[in-house]
Amino acid sequence: MRVAFLAAECEPWAKTGGLADVVDALARALGQVGGAGRGGPLDGPVDVFLPRYRSVPVPASAVTRQLQVPDPRGSGVLTVGLVETETHGYRLRLVDHPPAFDREGLYGDAAGDYPDNAWRFGLFCRAALEALRTDPAPPDVLHLHDWHAAPAVLLRDGLLRSDRAIGAAAVLLTVHNLAYHGWPPAARVPDLGLGAGAVAPDADGLDLLAAGIERAELVNTVSPGFAAEARTPAYGMGLDEHLRAKGDRFFGILNGLDTDLWDPATDSALSAPYSRADRSGKASCRAALLTELGMDAGNSAPLLAMIGRLDPQKGFDLLSEAAPDLLELGFRLAVLGSGTADHVGPLRRLAAERGDRVALLERFDRDLARRLYAGADGFLMPSRFEPCGTGQMIALRYGTPPIVRATGGLRDTVVDAVTDPANGTGFWFEEPTAAALVQACDRFMDWFAPGAPRWEGLLDRGMAVDFDWRTRSAPAYLEAYRRTIEIRSLR
Ligand code: GLC
Repeated sequence: MRVAFLAAECEPWAKTGGLADVVDALARALGQVGGAGRGGPLDGPVDVFLPRYRSVPVPASAVTRQLQVPDPRGSGVLTVGLVETETHGYRLRLVDHPPAFDREGLYGDAAGDYPDNAWRFGLFCRAALEALRTDPAPPDVLHLHDWHAAPAVLLRDGLLRSDRAIGAAAVLLTVHNLAYHGWPPAARVPDLGLGAGAVAPDADGLDLLAAGIERAELVNTVSPGFAAEARTPAYGMGLDEHLRAKGDRFFGILNGLDTDLWDPATDSALSAPYSRADRSGKASCRAALLTELGMDAGNSAPLLAMIGRLDPQKGFDLLSEAAPDLLELGFRLAVLGSGTADHVGPLRRLAAERGDRVALLERFDRDLARRLYAGADGFLMPSRFEPCGTGQMIALRYGTPPIVRATGGLRDTVVDAVTDPANGTGFWFEEPTAAALVQACDRFMDWFAPGAPRWEGLLDRGMAVDFDWRTRSAPAYLEAYRRTIEIRSLR
């Protein structure tokens, strides 16, 4: 099998969220379990196509060649660079066209999404397919990630349907975030370069994710729990009907975690390494973190941490609303968030007034994130919806029990200690309200007792969970590839 990913993000080259981590870690894990060159099902490392944004640190080993790509916007041909190198266990293939990608942001700037995103991602997909056409061996599977890659399946079934290399390729579309459909207005739909009559936009434009879901042989999302939720109007974001119509061709595969990248025993950002067998370093990490945050390291009041994009999906507003009650209960809070923070006003005020108890760090800081995972006593994920989530898996691996809303992948990865004390690894709450979050934190407080067997058992079970991509997730994707090829061959 030859597998090519098309994705808008891949760590460490370009990242705004969990998509980037998953694309990178899955591509690498597939190379390892797919047995490229060792008689396994993969013919070689996975290809990862990614736009060459301004911020991408191009590896020195990369070789550039030029491709002639039809301009999606109409007549004419564009010269597009293909910057390639084998690195991190996959073949990185950067689509380089400065007018499209040499910009401040990945998707937009302070003024909002770039108005020409249909053209940008139409070009990205077309260039990737043109590159694949010129390869010695055709791709068997196009693995498309989120709406940015959806134009590729529309091209396969449209302009390139009789192409020898592309027309026969099977597609798996992975939906990481159902909230973003990539919805060009009708006037911009021609800029996708799909050819006249390929798609029929309605008055609102074109729902690219919906179109991709319809066309792909198989569609998955990143946890079984979210796959079930996404079929319902409450979580389907307008696509529940589309997803129900796929029947068993829509399913969940739980994300893994890159356990080499996320390991408290080798994490160089931490002041003291620790492991499941010897957790003693965690106390030093806690003390160092509290000092770094300007809080009293000698105080035993538990520190709860929250990290992520300041996006309503993640429930930062719930934490902001709950914060005064949490302080009342005796907690301290550390929040590391990137993005625009228009719904964390109350938290900002609290951080200004009570710097000894509340830290709000409005930025993206890889190393501080690692120190928070290690040094905090509990980790908050009050998401309104969560296809999978990465933070809770990292927190478990770092011995920091998560407090999560019982939804999607959070429900699939964290076992509630209150209802299942023997197997519990964290704490759940059901309703997306500040009050429910506070109650869950109250239950956490009830358990919180460093040194006590019940508390230490909770940490130990969390650290023991095996999220390694190679154990279950990557093999499940290999199976999905086999299945999508089979469905495609029956066409
Ligand atoms: C999106 C989802 C998140 C998931 C990630 C990677 O960011 O919101 O739940 O973990 O994609 O699949």
